[in-house]
Order: sequence, then C-alpha cells, then structure tokens
Amino acid sequence: MSADLVIVANRLPVDRVTGPDGQVGWRRSPGGLVSAIEPVMRAGSGVWIGWPGGASDEAPALSTEPFEVDGMRLAPVGLTRAEITEFYEGFSNGTLWPIYHDLVAKPEFHREWWDSYVAVNNRFAERAAELAAEGATVWVHDYQLQLVPQLLRALRPDLRIGFYLHIPFPPPELFQQLPWRRQLLEGLLGADLVGFQLPGGAANFVRLVRQRVGHKTHRDLVYLPDGRTVRAEPFPISIDAAGFEALATDAGVVARSLEIRRALGEPRRIFLGIDRLDYTKGIYARLRAFAELVEEGHIDVEDAVFVQVAVPSREQVEQYRLLRDDIDRLVGRINGDLGRIGRPAISYLHASYPREEMAALYRAADVMVVTPYRDGMNLVAKEYVACRVGEDGALVLSEFAGAADELRQAWLVNPYDINGMKAALLEAYNADGKELGRRMRAMRRTIRQHDVKAWADSFLSVLGEVSNPHDKSVRPARRS
Ligand code: F6P
Repeated sequence: MSADLVIVANRLPVDRVTGPDGQVGWRRSPGGLVSAIEPVMRAGSGVWIGWPGGASDEAPALSTEPFEVDGMRLAPVGLTRAEITEFYEGFSNGTLWPIYHDLVAKPEFHREWWDSYVAVNNRFAERAAELAAEGATVWVHDYQLQLVPQLLRALRPDLRIGFYLHIPFPPPELFQQLPWRRQLLEGLLGADLVGFQLPGGAANFVRLVRQRVGHKTHRDLVYLPDGRTVRAEPFPISIDAAGFEALATDAGVVARSLEIRRALGEPRRIFLGIDRLDYTKGIYARLRAFAELVEEGHIDVEDAVFVQVAVPSREQVEQYRLLRDDIDRLVGRINGDLGRIGRPAISYLHASYPREEMAALYRAADVMVVTPYRDGMNLVAKEYVACRVGEDGALVLSEFAGAADELRQAWLVNPYDINGMKAALLEAYNADGKELGRRMRAMRRTIRQHDVKAWADSFLSVLGEVSNPHDKSVRPARRS
C-alpha cells in the first residue's frame, strides 16, 4: 500500500480499547489535534500513521497492518511500556510540554527520555517512508515528532515534507534550556514548511535557528547549506464550523440541551468550562474566581451554576495526578461551603464526551469560560462560538490562548489576575442581549470565514509551492 498524502501524528484519531470479553473496539482520542485533522482525512484519501494507545508489549498484540475505521485508513505504530514512560509521558509531556507552555510546571531533563524520543521518532519516520508513494506529501504533526522531518528526508529525499506544531513554540530564553535544542531545531529543518499557530512562534523558531544552528535567514525563510529553503509561517488552526453548526441545530442535540438545563434545576445562567485535565488550562484559578463571586454575593447558587468538564488526560504523569487531587479537593470545598441541597455551585464531571454531548453543553451554556495560562489555539472556544446559532452566549477567553488573536470580541482576561477574571465573569453574566449579539455575531463571522478546511488548504497549498529539489528522478534537461 502506498499513499499520496501521509499524516504522521503521535496518536491515531481512535484509541484501542479492550472490552471485558477481550473484544477490541475503538474510542475517539481526546485533544485538539484529532478534532482538526479528522475532517481533513475524511475529505481525502490519505493514510494516518500514529499510536493506537496502550502498550504494544501487552496482549493482545496489535498487527501493524493499515486498517480502516470510520472511512479513514489508519496505520498503527506500537509503543512499548518503557517507551510510553520515557518517550510519551517523559520527554514529550514531562520535558517539552512545560517548556513549550511558559514553564507553567517545572520540566524534567533525563538523558534516557531523550534516547527513547529519538528511537520512537525513528520508528515513525521509517513507517512513513514505507507508506508514502513516490513524490508524496507527508504532513508531520506536533511536538512529539519533531525529529521525524529530518529522519524521513534522509530515507526519502523525494518527499514533500510539512510539519505543523499544534502547541506554542517558546521564546528562545526558554527553549535554550533544552540540552537537545540543536538536534530538535535540525529535526524540524528536515521539513520544507514548518507551520505554527501564531506569528510569534514562527519568529521564535527562525531566531533560534539563526542563533543556535547558524543558518542564514531572511524573514520567514531559512537557507540551508545544501541549497534547500525552509519556510516558517503561522497557520492558525480552526474547526469544522459548518459541522458544529449543523450539530447544534440537530433535533436530538437541541432536546438534550434542554434536558441538561432541566437536570441542573433550570438555573438562569449556566457557566461552562470544558478542558483536558491539564495544568496549563487554568481550571483551578477559574473555579476559585467563580466561588469568590458566589461567596461575595454577586452570584447566587439558586440562579447560576458552573459546569466544569475535565477530560481525563496523561493520568500516569505525576503533575497531572496532583492536579486532579487539587481540583477534586477544591470542588468539594466550594460545594461544601457554598452549595445548597440540589444546588451545587459547581457541577464537576471527570469524563470524556462525544461531540453530540459537547454540542448540547455548548447550546445549554450562557457563559463559556476558557482561561488557560498558555494554549496553542484552544478549539473549545471556537466550537462554542460555532454552536451559538442564536447569536447569544458570552465567551470569557484568556489572552494567552492562540484563539484570542482572532476572537477579539470575547471578554479577554489575564488568567493570573483573579480579580480581573472575576470582573469579566460578572460582566459576561450581566451582559444584555444586544451586547451579547454584537460580540457573538462578529466572532461567528470570523469562525465561518476561517474554518479547518481553509486552514488545511492553506498549509498544503503553501507546502505545494515550496520549490525544493524533491524528486531525484527528475533531472534538468540536458542542453544539446
Ligand atoms: O493539541 C495538543 C495535544 O498535545 C496533541 O498533540 C494531542 O494529541 C492532544 O493534545 C492530547 O494529548 P495526548 O495525546 O497526550 O492525550
């Protein structure tokens, strides 16, 4: 089998789950990357290479042959238990993740984690080299696979290689802490095009390449000694806006949103947070801000409730376990202190839901609260806007989410400033229909014009324009 478009991402869009009877099934993987790439894959006929979750050294063993789920061709790459610890939980999420997110947590540096990162990146590169057709386009995704472009180019110089980083790319002051900074930059330079969420990320990358690798650069271009040129450009990611809008008007979803409001006791206002349970998301501070508003009498629990959905994530990583305990304790304390019978201040759900249930929640919520300390984009904010077909509802959004660059009409907040967040929550809570409509209409226009299809098309078309000498079989015509 060979494909003209190969997507390479750490995770497949589905996780393998084994039922009690030993039967293997598939469940959608969490996170923004999957939400963004899935529609691109459905529209084309590529193959998606990724980890299907779970350890490959545990029974039942998984065949590495490509297979089809929901009309998508998927090619699994297995990880051993040790690689899950060292490559995924370790180097990807214990070293890179905090450095790329403003050091919200303390990164750890371990040489054996790096060795595992190199080994797994090699495996992904080899798999892509096997599955890509002659002259194919390979699109590599995210921080777990930053060495793949260079490794793959060495194996298959005929390919057109793009790389997209879904998370922020840090300023040089932070990136420089990495003992393997040069190798990571050189890994990315194997691509023809390196895409970032925001212009700042692209500029950080080009500056680092100049300073640390010593290549010549000009604006968004890097000139390599072998004659290749690498482009570094921003491509803010988006969502399937029309798909979410259609979902939000589906009769079943509308009925479910009314049922949610009833189940919550028909409060006048519902606040909503939906996040992977991650320390970058600012869940703790946001719940405290809401609780203080209740405590001070600005909000009454008879009148409003905060629904917080925390999607389980990276549960074996120490910092994520500690966060879960902290949030559990905080929610318990807030509800114990401020709730009344049948009226908790916070309705807390530690679970992952299908798109239909998310759309029903978005429809039910009056104030969506998205307050990460640092976030590449945050697609939840965009999904909320897409689902507000009545052009109402308020979005309270962190200045430090990539989405804030586009959704300027949200109530923008600094998530480190609890009083500022309280003021914004209260304003959003009390805003009248005219104000809400004005803001939401503008945000909906933005989301419609720039959906995930536009994002993928623009990345792939810029990648298609890069004029590096890809195909070794095409030699310049000889002069007679
Ligand atoms: O969007 C950022 C991201 O880290 C993706 O790369 C990833 O697929 C998603 O969040 C969820 O994280 P994980 O794969 O570690 O569960």
